Amino acid sequence: MTILDGKKISNDIKNEITEEVNKIKERGEKVPHLAAVIVGNGGASLTYVGSKVRACERVGFKSTMVRMSNTTSEVELLDKIEELNNNDEIDGFIVQLPLPPQIDTQKVLMAVDPNKDVDGFHPMNFGKMALDMSTFIPATPFGILELLDRYQVETDGKHTVIIGRSHIVGRPMSILMGRKGFPGNSTVTLTHSHTKNITQITSQADIIISALGVPKFLKAEMVKDDVVIIDVGITRVPDETKEKGYYITGDVDFENVSKKASYITPVPGGVGPMTIAMLLKNTLLARERNSL
Ligand code: GUN
Repeated sequence: MTILDGKKISNDIKNEITEEVNKIKERGEKVPHLAAVIVGNGGASLTYVGSKVRACERVGFKSTMVRMSNTTSEVELLDKIEELNNNDEIDGFIVQLPLPPQIDTQKVLMAVDPNKDVDGFHPMNFGKMALDMSTFIPATPFGILELLDRYQVETDGKHTVIIGRSHIVGRPMSILMGRKGFPGNSTVTLTHSHTKNITQITSQADIIISALGVPKFLKAEMVKDDVVIIDVGITRVPDETKEKGYYITGDVDFENVSKKASYITPVPGGVGPMTIAMLLKNTLLARERNSL
């Protein structure tokens, strides 16, 4: 069994990006600049955005965190997006999800300039991804592809089962794994809350990508020997014995499933750090594209 070490690979990627930034600086050009908008401070969002901003500093990018109150109106947020769209200093930006209920998420994602949409959530970029055109691939799916690539995990002709159909992970992943090329050429099954007898499906999977958010959902009895496991779940489970009052766990019963797996991502230290590294990569790409 091989651990797909997202922490190590994300560090390698950050080092590669740092080298690129150093070359940009040597040429006397503007360094990449990422902005992140966060509305309210619910759940883990602030922690995630904080990690994204710190990662920018680490690779030599400029970063701006825009914090807006939980009671921000849709119009106020759309005005802020317009401002970021028009700010030539900023190469790319993200609006951290989820948004409070008074704001229509789809309207917000549509308002982001597709050339600055480093999350790849704008329908134009999502459509381009589905049509194999050059675009920004959403950071978490991009990170999963990069892990499979760097560990040379065979995907050609394999049966990939995806658990969860979110717009951020499950849906794009189902498109990407079925694309021509590597990683891809998989036969894909997209499962979700209406799927019947999921065990029958997961037990036939060569690769399982789980993005459900239910702790330890995937058990050893649900998988076959030598399965490849990508665990995208990150759930905070309350635990008073821990300093922070919780511990982090994935969708997979790691202790038992890892005994049957050929490759597996740990949580934490698997897909999570890859998401951040690929957001940086998309920002570097945005700078290159927008300066052409
Ligand atoms: N919320 C959870 N994951 C993400 C992400 O990749 N981007 C944004 N903007 N919000 C998220």
